[in-house]
Amino acid sequence: MSPQTAKKKSAKKKTVTKKTTKRRVSVSTNNVKPKLYASLVVQLLSLLKGEHDFVANAANMSALLFNSLPNVNWAGFYFLKGDELVLGPFQGNPACVRIPMGKGVCGVAAQQLETIIVPNVHEFPGHIACDVASNSEIVVPMFDGERLLGVLDLDSPTIGRFDDQDAEGLNELVTVFVAHEEGLGL
Ligand code: SME
Repeated sequence: MSPQTAKKKSAKKKTVTKKTTKRRVSVSTNNVKPKLYASLVVQLLSLLKGEHDFVANAANMSALLFNSLPNVNWAGFYFLKGDELVLGPFQGNPACVRIPMGKGVCGVAAQQLETIIVPNVHEFPGHIACDVASNSEIVVPMFDGERLLGVLDLDSPTIGRFDDQDAEGLNELVTVFVAHEEGLGL
């Protein structure tokens, strides 16, 4: 191979590598989370199919989220019972059982009826620390029509782990879950 040919080949290789890297970065910024959540919706529907036991379905949903979402150390439910939230099916370390409305991230999300993303739990006044490994958190309220059923709670050891794409994806999963349970008099 002449020195000139070798030079041409190496220049060509360089261009290809650059293009590939560029495309990968753009995909990871825009599509990875929506694609993952779309796949989780399909998997959740498959898990729910033919089964209407609320606790069993909530248990499988928490296992699906815990094992499919990266950097998550706790995933599970708190259900509204009377005027407090009570621990439901979850994956992760043992957690506090009862959370009063308005207390902690879960209690505030339940009181405000809004999804709450906490980039750094150590900066959230009144945060309830169940696992010392948790550094960020997202809490999504669950509704049957207008009625609050409880919340879905996810923790991560990574600061700033959750964003609007997680909020959108988790809200869709919660909607699918609750719609499947409709008519059961929850
Ligand atoms: N950190 C939550 C309590 C529940 S655990 O994270 C599982 C809160 O502040 O409400």
